[in-house]
Amino acid sequence: MKPVIAEKKPAVVSLTEGEKYFFCTCGQSSKQPFCDGSHKGSEFTPMAFTADKSGDAYLCQCKHSAKKPYCDGTHKKLED
Ligand code: FES
Repeated sequence: MKPVIAEKKPAVVSLTEGEKYFFCTCGQSSKQPFCDGSHKGSEFTPMAFTADKSGDAYLCQCKHSAKKPYCDGTHKKLED
């Protein structure tokens, strides 16, 4: 099963060093790029990660990045 493409661009979010976040991997959350529980009943689970520095981060919303939760530019190669 493929994740839903929430958006074909990253979300710029302000992260706090040492804080734990839950990144949406299914693409169905309405709180992109974070999990809102919408994955329930699917094979997807959120990806927990801890920010290693404070400041703005570009988090993947196309859900196809190889460097999740971060955008790696893969969204530019996706078909419509
Ligand atoms: S938004 Fe997914 S790789 Fe950029």
